[in-house]
Amino acid sequence: MQAIVDNEPAARVAASAVGVPSTAAGRYAAVRGRTEALVAALDAEDMVVQSMPDASPAKWHLAHTTWFFETFLLGPNVPGYQVFDETFGFLFNSYYEAVGPRHPRPMRGLLTRPSVARVLDYRRYVDRYMGELLSHRLEADIEALLHLGLAHEEQHQELLVMDVQHLFAQSPLKPAFDARWALPSPGRVARFHRIGGGPVRIGAQDEPFSFDNEGPRHTVWLEPFDIADRLVTNGQWLAFMALGGYRRADLWLSDGWAQCREEGWEAPLYWQHDGEVWSHMTPAGWRPVDPDAAVTHISYYEAEAYARWAGARLPTEAEWEHAVRSRQGLEQVDDVAWQWTASAYTPYPGFRAADDAVGEYNGKFMSGQMVLRGGASVTPPGHSRPSYRNFYRPGQRWMFSGLRLARDVHREREDERDVFLRDTLAGLSASPKTMLPKYFYDGAGSALFEAICDTPEYYPTRTEKALLTGIAADLASYIPEGAVLLELGSGASEKTRLLLDAAPGIAAYVPVDISVDALDGATERLASAYPALAVHPVVADFTRSIDVPRALEGHPVVAFFPGSTIGNFEADDAVELLRAVRGRLGPEARFIVGADQVKDVPTLTAAYDDAEGVTAAFNRNMLVRINRELGGDFDVGSFEHRAVWNAQKARIEMHLASRRAQRVTVAGQAFDFAAGETIHTENSHKFTPASFAALARSGGWEVERQWVSDDPAFGVFVLKAV
Ligand code: AVI
Repeated sequence: MQAIVDNEPAARVAASAVGVPSTAAGRYAAVRGRTEALVAALDAEDMVVQSMPDASPAKWHLAHTTWFFETFLLGPNVPGYQVFDETFGFLFNSYYEAVGPRHPRPMRGLLTRPSVARVLDYRRYVDRYMGELLSHRLEADIEALLHLGLAHEEQHQELLVMDVQHLFAQSPLKPAFDARWALPSPGRVARFHRIGGGPVRIGAQDEPFSFDNEGPRHTVWLEPFDIADRLVTNGQWLAFMALGGYRRADLWLSDGWAQCREEGWEAPLYWQHDGEVWSHMTPAGWRPVDPDAAVTHISYYEAEAYARWAGARLPTEAEWEHAVRSRQGLEQVDDVAWQWTASAYTPYPGFRAADDAVGEYNGKFMSGQMVLRGGASVTPPGHSRPSYRNFYRPGQRWMFSGLRLARDVHREREDERDVFLRDTLAGLSASPKTMLPKYFYDGAGSALFEAICDTPEYYPTRTEKALLTGIAADLASYIPEGAVLLELGSGASEKTRLLLDAAPGIAAYVPVDISVDALDGATERLASAYPALAVHPVVADFTRSIDVPRALEGHPVVAFFPGSTIGNFEADDAVELLRAVRGRLGPEARFIVGADQVKDVPTLTAAYDDAEGVTAAFNRNMLVRINRELGGDFDVGSFEHRAVWNAQKARIEMHLASRRAQRVTVAGQAFDFAAGETIHTENSHKFTPASFAALARSGGWEVERQWVSDDPAFGVFVLKAV
């Protein structure tokens, strides 16, 4: 394209965060110049063709944005203004009924005339008169229209990139819009952030410019929710595809499923594969799909199905805006992809469209569309803001649309403190006093447990890892292709890697843990180490519920319970857990369990009373936690750590013994301790192969295979449903 003066390559326009000029004329020139720079590398032929009814030719965008200034600013405000061409009102009016009839949208690509050169002359003509208008002090209403015209042109800049990309994607030559276009950088997978609920204010307030649809600012009530700090990646999307995401009607809304079937969707728009390798169209041309980059070009229906599959949901637009405004560490807010929300595009309370033609700008589209928030890599710099409401029909995909997940905060998790309080009061009222060992594992407790595993005395973790490493290939033969690996009390998921490496056919991994932090960390590490693996973390107390996400139903499940955690249960509770797993996973399931073995007493007691005092700190952390979370007043230092072997019950018991007679208060309730009286905090049962098989049998399982290491003895058992 030669006709444009000052033609700047599009890549530079996209990459430079153009400083905002201070005068109206400067701002006008900057925005108009950017549009022309975007088309600088296109040929005239590229600018005429319309690849689908939703898209418009680049030439039409150049003319229509100019028509907007001519119609709404120059005509009414410049005395004696003569339109450039009488036919252009009909050709380049988009949808303004109040301004008169127009050329049908699907036929914009048939306009070989006026030529691109004439459209550029039109731009020059209008720019000249706009220059004159802007050289005077502007009335407030004209200034508002100028801002609207510029924001409108910026919207068309983005549409122009979308439309040219769509056009070029149809060509067997697959030309690049701009081969140097900077694509968004890849990065880690998302972590969820908890956001408190309550009344929040949303909508535009003091922004220099906002569209009418962003107001009035108003109050909405939000329940507490979790929101992902980054967007869903292509790698995560590939896992969704591999696990039948586009083939399972149960994941989709009815209209979405109908469109998916009718249009044969099996991947986001523009994706094509050559064998296993996927590539797609980008503004920089045809590129391999980067698993660590955010997924784009998905419809609302796909985003919704993915969220359902992932055990999450889309955020509402109010949740999105509140999370962004409250600076909760969200990344990829407005520079990668627009994010579908669960909100229908409807007027805010008190919204009223203006009475004149520009009142048609947004208001009349408030039906049948969904809101997207944020901004995309192709959005002009500075164009978006937290209150910005983009909107598209739920089946559209050619825009740069992606998704950020959200999820409800379940009552169960909200009630955790109440349950902890109830168990603590009951345990301290009992005789002897007891606490449940699951309450060791807050953030500090989990870190202390990791540190215990590194002490020279605590052999179980090291021994089990070595054993698993040696038998991994054998174990893999019990894990069917396409299986879901469900790990109970997964913590840092370290041993899991041994199974994932040995059985690459594992399709999905479901770590279940009570600690959100542990799950987030493990999910992030595993997702980057195993990009094709679908990781579905489940925050749950597995002694209360064991849920395989709905998305994974129908897959064979192998449960994994390493670390001899089963030894921390009373026999009855262990049997109940084994039964629950058996009942939940069905008759075909396999259950791989690690169980520590009975051995000499000095080795056992040293493992639970290391010389450095890490286990003692772990034990006392229970009291620290009661003080912090339940308002207790334990003098932590006045309790001594004890680890004793109970030969009759084949278990190590951990206690906290009061060094003196004292009274402790928790949540206003007093508890008296005699000197030497203990709180029994944990049992760690040790097994023999025979005692473990008997336990398994009571729980509905039989030992299919077992391995027991040399000293110190540790056992790994493959269980099969009886
Ligand atoms: C998690 N569980 C198997 C450990 C155990 O050996 O019973 C917890 C532990 N308690 C003290 N040290 C380690």
